Amino acid sequence: MGKTRHWLRYSLPFILILVSLVSLYACDSGDSSTTASTFSTVITSTQTSAANVTVTLANFAFSPASLEIKVGDTVTWINKDEVTHTVTGDTAGIFDSGNLATNATFSYTFTSAGTFKYHCLPHPYMTGTVIVK
Ligand code: CO
Repeated sequence: MGKTRHWLRYSLPFILILVSLVSLYACDSGDSSTTASTFSTVITSTQTSAANVTVTLANFAFSPASLEIKVGDTVTWINKDEVTHTVTGDTAGIFDSGNLATNATFSYTFTSAGTFKYHCLPHPYMTGTVIVK
């Protein structure tokens, strides 16, 4: 115990000087341009992290019927009904799941911005919208 205090009494001033030198150096090297580029890198990586959103088909409806995502995000539909449904884009050739049995899933990655309306082929009254920003 006594030895530790003795060591601290002599080394503490040196530790303090070392800490202030390190913080001074950090301030000098961290000029505003470096800080700005580091900040923008963080923002960019947040924007490019793709999300995966799930839409449930249940009781002859898409839920949520409308959702907003970002370019690059993926939507996965899962059929929770006892009957077969499809996820079919209103614009031909965009996406079409084909027949989805119970618990079957279909995923589609949206690579461009726009409003994408879709429906179920056997039940045209089942409609949904994906807004890609
Ligand atoms: Co259907």
